[in-house]
Amino acid sequence: MKILLKGGRVVDPSRNFSKVADVLIENGKIKKIAADINEKARTFKVGGLVVCPGLIDIHVHLREPGREDEETIATGTRAAAKGGFTTVCAMPNTNPAVDSVSGVKYILMTAAESGIVRVLPYGAITKGRRGEELTEIGKMKKAGIVGISDDGTSVMNARVMRRAMEYSKMFDIPVVSHCEDLNLSAGGVMNEGRTSTILGLRGIPPQAEEVMVARDIALAELTGARLHLAHITTKRSVALVREAKKRKIKVTAEATPHHLFFTDKFVEEYNTNAKVNPPLRSEEDRVALMEGLRDGTIDCVASDHAPHLDTEKNKEFDFAPFGVIGLETALPVVITALVKKKKLSLMDVISKMSTRPAEIIGGHDLGKLVIGGVADITVIDLNKKKKITSDFFVSKSANSPFIGKNLSGFAVLTIFGGKVVFRDL
Ligand code: DOR
Repeated sequence: MKILLKGGRVVDPSRNFSKVADVLIENGKIKKIAADINEKARTFKVGGLVVCPGLIDIHVHLREPGREDEETIATGTRAAAKGGFTTVCAMPNTNPAVDSVSGVKYILMTAAESGIVRVLPYGAITKGRRGEELTEIGKMKKAGIVGISDDGTSVMNARVMRRAMEYSKMFDIPVVSHCEDLNLSAGGVMNEGRTSTILGLRGIPPQAEEVMVARDIALAELTGARLHLAHITTKRSVALVREAKKRKIKVTAEATPHHLFFTDKFVEEYNTNAKVNPPLRSEEDRVALMEGLRDGTIDCVASDHAPHLDTEKNKEFDFAPFGVIGLETALPVVITALVKKKKLSLMDVISKMSTRPAEIIGGHDLGKLVIGGVADITVIDLNKKKKITSDFFVSKSANSPFIGKNLSGFAVLTIFGGKVVFRDL
């Protein structure tokens, strides 16, 4: 089976490559990248479009096992393919949590049976994500995890976190930290500040995140482990990461599209799709995140795709769950908010949504377009415009804060391992 992509702009941040060229795919691999390839193959004319390495989202919640009413590996990977993602890293805050070899095997087996893109699981740091007893990290790594995380909650005990980092270093995987001091954030539903005061909603101070960012950087320095900070949101967190990187501590960080796009003012509408953890912050914080992305302090964009049902979200703000879906809108949000506004180049965006995420998880040789490499490819139409509506989504849930927004720059063809998994051209 051969596929030929004709006349697109091939962009590969791994070698700073950007040229109009044809790409030939054969047997799931990239066979040739050159001008004017003439070959009998299933041909797509992609003139005027961008051809890049398949996007990689290292922070998604697929909800299987346990909440298959919200999302499954089958539906979540279809949402991923539509969003241009060929690899997603699944968080272990399922029910039960993925905290054992059998849990990891279940994810990989289900993904092989029903997924349409690559699913790489994380294992929990602690059993049941209770923050007390470490999981069998080495055995889970052997079974296929790409990192460990108790995402959704913090490991409050610094001694436990230290040990987790020591083990993760031995197995050369990152510790992905959800930075939240649970005592400081307790009872909060939005960012603590002027807006929470006016609305009379309990706030979560930026310091709830920052004290844990500082702690985990200190522990990464102590242990030499690879620390990846999930969804950072504040100006001070960005500054802490910037300083840690200067001191050559092995820390990487991600920002989400919703924290780059919205501020806590959005909560004024009492739309529960403005309720996320960590919360939407101030304009000053949002600007600092953009600057962090621009100067390389923030390595990647990850969606934190967190499906919840309408019946759960359609509640008073205090009672709705935290989280929004993001796989299908991450790319257009970043293109609309950053590329079109000249805050970030297209090369940078592809780096932050493919090449860098691949480097952070490591070991899989993804995030680049090279001869002989796996044919995970995304074709993007930078000028395709859409108004997002609730029936736009193939995800099982539709809890998106971007409903009603006009976005531009969508994936129009997603190829996973040489197979077309999404097509809109
Ligand atoms: O908003 C969030 N939702 N933040 C998290 O950390 C967890 C996630 C979820 O699983 O719903």
